[in-house]
Amino acid sequence: MCGIVGYVGQKQALEVVVSGLRRLEYRGYDSAGVAVISEGELEVRKKAGKLANLESLIGQDPLPSSTTGIGHTRWATHGGPTDSNAHPHVSENGRIAVIHNGIIENFAELRDELTAAGVHLSSETDTEVVAHLLARELPLAEFDLTVAMMRTCALLEGAFTLLCLDPHQPDVVVGARRNSPLVVGVGDGENFLASDVAAFVEYTSEALELGQDQIVTLTPDGVSVIDFDGNPVIPLAFTIDWDASAAEKDGYELFMLKEIAEQPRAVADTLRGRIGKDFRIQLDEANLDDAVIKKISKVMVIACGTAAHAGMVAKYAIEHWTRLPVDVELASEFRYRDPIVGPDTLVIAISQSGETMDTLMALRYAKEQGAHTLAICNTVGSTIPRESDAVLYTRAGPEVAVASTKAFLTQIVAAYLVGLYLAQVRGALFEDEVRSILRDLDDMPSKIDLVLDTVEPVRALARQLVDARSVLFLGRHVGFPVALEGALKLKELAYMHAEGFPAGELKHGPIALIEDGIPVVVIVPSPRGRAVLHDKIVSNIQEVRARGARIIAIAEEGDESITPYADDIIRIPEVPTLLQPLVATVPLQVFACEMATAKGHDVDQPRNLAKSVTVE
Ligand code: AGP
Repeated sequence: MCGIVGYVGQKQALEVVVSGLRRLEYRGYDSAGVAVISEGELEVRKKAGKLANLESLIGQDPLPSSTTGIGHTRWATHGGPTDSNAHPHVSENGRIAVIHNGIIENFAELRDELTAAGVHLSSETDTEVVAHLLARELPLAEFDLTVAMMRTCALLEGAFTLLCLDPHQPDVVVGARRNSPLVVGVGDGENFLASDVAAFVEYTSEALELGQDQIVTLTPDGVSVIDFDGNPVIPLAFTIDWDASAAEKDGYELFMLKEIAEQPRAVADTLRGRIGKDFRIQLDEANLDDAVIKKISKVMVIACGTAAHAGMVAKYAIEHWTRLPVDVELASEFRYRDPIVGPDTLVIAISQSGETMDTLMALRYAKEQGAHTLAICNTVGSTIPRESDAVLYTRAGPEVAVASTKAFLTQIVAAYLVGLYLAQVRGALFEDEVRSILRDLDDMPSKIDLVLDTVEPVRALARQLVDARSVLFLGRHVGFPVALEGALKLKELAYMHAEGFPAGELKHGPIALIEDGIPVVVIVPSPRGRAVLHDKIVSNIQEVRARGARIIAIAEEGDESITPYADDIIRIPEVPTLLQPLVATVPLQVFACEMATAKGHDVDQPRNLAKSVTVE
């Protein structure tokens, strides 16, 4: 939701903090700000708008030299993106600067208490109350910033990652986290705090996970962690397995273009080491207990947005292979509908960031009900895998563009591996059947490469349709979640109405949307899979075409039967029915990216969005 960076060490703090914020700007970009300590004074600069606005402000009004600093890029929750609402927030006595990611749910009550005590609040944010509370608690904590943070956290409800500075403790940054991401970077004579390792990976690959309700105190030579009760905690160390260049554009104009192009490698990496020489599944690292697998009677997927679409695709495959019922639940709805979940349920939480609050809260609810939990996640050291019984990491590498692409394909692949593993352990598939599917999966990187080599017509089509008011997406079977994903991409990037439907559902109402020339993208099932699916979708195409729709068919090579019914055909390679989403999605990603580019939008950082939504 917001980007947070803290630094203490030997370097110029401003340089480290701003470069970290630049890497985190995808997490939120309504406003940005920094605070540093110099000669016993706090120096703060903050500005509405993107990081570039802050940098030009600092260019006009430079900060003094300093080796201790914190910085923030904001995705507004309380109060608009204005200069006064930008973080850091400073206490009335100018003693404390604080930055925050999350939502203080009891901030109104705290604000009223502070106001009644004569404190003047100058912003509309929930965060500002924390600055005043820390300043109030500091003398009660004998001016120990860590203790003041502990006392303050005891007053807060909701989700928060906090970093604060006190100029009277010039080489100290104190952080705290509850239900919101924070990770430590461990350097030589310097240490880092950030919402995401991308902020400091150029300086160190050694990191420490921070758990729930923990407070971290950083000095140049040390990192100490306590829980909210003051008990010492030994944080779990891990090594970041990718370098800073992976978070760069590497010559691509957009992160999204780079990440679309990285999909063959991302899928190959996600498969790597999980398919044995004899094409048997190897998921030992996932820590999936065979006894548990044999005992479960159903699977539930909890996820949001694109990750939920990946779960919907996986449902078809996992049910087909295991004969276990699979429910896909939008995480934000899951725990409020009194779901039937318990020790007989395997709950799979799919999340690229591993910090999506809706998904995290749904996971916790599932655990409270006794379910077994497995995370499919792209971010090592993040909260959702840490709180799951088992984890299978996707290996897409850092996904910087807010609109998810390579994470989606690797989530599907990881979910397929889990499904095959369940089928293998439960004996629902013969070993030779598993081997055959794994061979097909192993071919997918090259199939995706083929699609990437033939997407130029998709770009031209997007430019032709740049003025379309609306685009509909139709699919059947695994093509339906692909239609939803294609529509989401277009909404996110082109800011236009787009809607995905099960093709069979159109005639039950939505067909009223069809008017002359409306573009309708149809993901056409392979005629080699279930012929009936193909025949039905041809009928659906005719229904809308008869009413003036412009048909854009995503159809496999060699399927000439579709030709008479489509105005445009985007060809994809022949693959097994259940694997078609891995190739059919790519043209839709390119279509949305090109449409957004043609409209002059910020493709990597679309308006109103954030990469990781860490509030409910
Ligand atoms: C994807 O394009 C969106 N940015 C969004 O729907 C995203 O998939 C969703 O917020 C879930 O995020 P997660 O995978 O990090 O949990």
